[in-house]
Amino acid sequence: MSASTPTSKPWADQPLALIPTPAFLTKQHNMWISGASHMCNVHNVIFRGYNSIYLQAPHVQEADMDAFLGYCRAWCKLVTTHAEEEESNYFPEAEKLLGDSVFEQTHEEHDAFMPLLQAFQQYLDSLENGSHLSSDKLLSLMSAFQQPFELHFRNEIKLIASLATHPNAPSEGSSEQIEAEKKFDKWGSSSVTRSGITDVLMFFLYNLDSSYEDGLWKDWPEIPGPVRWLMPRVIGGWHRQWWKFASCNADGKRKELCLP
Ligand SMILES: [Fe+2]
Repeated sequence: MSASTPTSKPWADQPLALIPTPAFLTKQHNMWISGASHMCNVHNVIFRGYNSIYLQAPHVQEADMDAFLGYCRAWCKLVTTHAEEEESNYFPEAEKLLGDSVFEQTHEEHDAFMPLLQAFQQYLDSLENGSHLSSDKLLSLMSAFQQPFELHFRNEIKLIASLATHPNAPSEGSSEQIEAEKKFDKWGSSSVTRSGITDVLMFFLYNLDSSYEDGLWKDWPEIPGPVRWLMPRVIGGWHRQWWKFASCNADGKRKELCLP
């Protein structure tokens, strides 16, 4: 399935609508617009993950229940480690750079959905195997955090993009700015890989749509072509059955969800 293939089945861009990147919206390029756009790409992977679980949960065949449970757990791990990495690393570093507590509201937003997300995670962890998974229970737990969760993931992008005009933002091209950009870029890529290679990183690659925004992000993140080709096929083979539920295939192209 390509972005233009007509299909009557819903895809993983609902119920949570994907977030437009600030780079696509503004056509501007500076450290904060780029950083917010890269963050936005990660948030959209998280949204495609949420949507793919939400839409497919009621239709999972018995033989696939273990794989679906693994897929759900990988999504949960991606979200929780993303939020934890931000709290412990990205937010403090950005606040130090700006000399301002710009993420105060963001902490409150995390606090608003994290306990509900943890309840979802605890439910998944409590299951001995996929045969015990109840789609009704899963959907009610997801619905409980959907609203504050969606609000937060949208707000954070707007906030980071807006920091370009912060009075203490280092001027574009200054050594301080170049250094900071390198640091944030490094954080962005290592925050996903540190979380887990066979589960979180593969979840990320299998939900990263290369056609998004007319292919603007087809080369993001910067991974050499042969490595990008091999990773989902070789490392992805570890949990091959999980990716049946992903929104994209090994080439980063949209694929049809498992829906009747
Ligand atoms: Fe984020």
